[in-house]
Amino acid sequence: MTAQIIDGLALSRQLRAEVAQRAAALAARGVRPGLAVVLVGDDPASQIYVRNKVKACAETGLHSVLERYPASMTEPELLARVRALNDDPAIHGILVQLPLPSHLAAHRVIESISPAKDVDGFHLASAGALMIGQPGFRPCTPSGCMKMLESIGCEPRGKHAVIIGRSNIVGKPMAMLLLHASATVTICHSATRDLAHHTRQADILVAAVGRRNIVSAGMVKSGAVVIDVGMNRDDQGKLCGDVDFAGVREVAGWITPVPGGVGPMTITMLLVNTLEAAQRTLAGSHR
Ligand code: GUN
Repeated sequence: MTAQIIDGLALSRQLRAEVAQRAAALAARGVRPGLAVVLVGDDPASQIYVRNKVKACAETGLHSVLERYPASMTEPELLARVRALNDDPAIHGILVQLPLPSHLAAHRVIESISPAKDVDGFHLASAGALMIGQPGFRPCTPSGCMKMLESIGCEPRGKHAVIIGRSNIVGKPMAMLLLHASATVTICHSATRDLAHHTRQADILVAAVGRRNIVSAGMVKSGAVVIDVGMNRDDQGKLCGDVDFAGVREVAGWITPVPGGVGPMTITMLLVNTLEAAQRTLAGSHR
């Protein structure tokens, strides 16, 4: 079997066109959705990510501001900036790019963001809301993965989903979203014994580790849906995921490529969350 490709770029294009339409409708009612992106320090990967986020806003008609600060910024200074953005009516979503320089406590900074503007879905209130199935912002990468499953008509109910990785940004929220969709969920991590034993049982396999080729063809059940969240570089410096794409492609039913898979969907869901945040201000409901 040769897997079908889940094209994250094509799906993103379609969803971003909907965002642009909805943003225009909101703007006509006097609310232009606005995102503030805060970058502290000069991490090269973070600079590329934030540039892409700001560019995506411009392409869909969202207002955005990029605030860049030197790595020497103090925590009180950063907290004061976040508070000012919390109070800024032109800003509906606030994103503080991670990782932060080590002298800044990321959890305190994230907790200072108003949950109503937490479009990354990283705030404790958002994480708690996800855990108990209450409305709130969902982290962008896992919600993008759910959209990809939906786009191919993959219904998680009753399926066995196996996630490799237990990060707060991807692995754990991914598990919660799949659980709420009534999948049977297994989370594997660095201390898991016999990883392949678990992955071979997966109808839906999500790799979110950050290590090249952690998933090979022999670890995948025939016909499985394989979602690759990894962003790594191969020996030639080319972008690649966590999955041995060429090998797994011959076994899986569906597979996401890297690049052009999950990556564009993460930014797309950030736009969707920002739009929702703006929409909620109009409805007057701060869920
Ligand atoms: N660093 C890597 N991914 C993300 C993300 O989705 N949001 C933020 N704020 N920082 C990140």
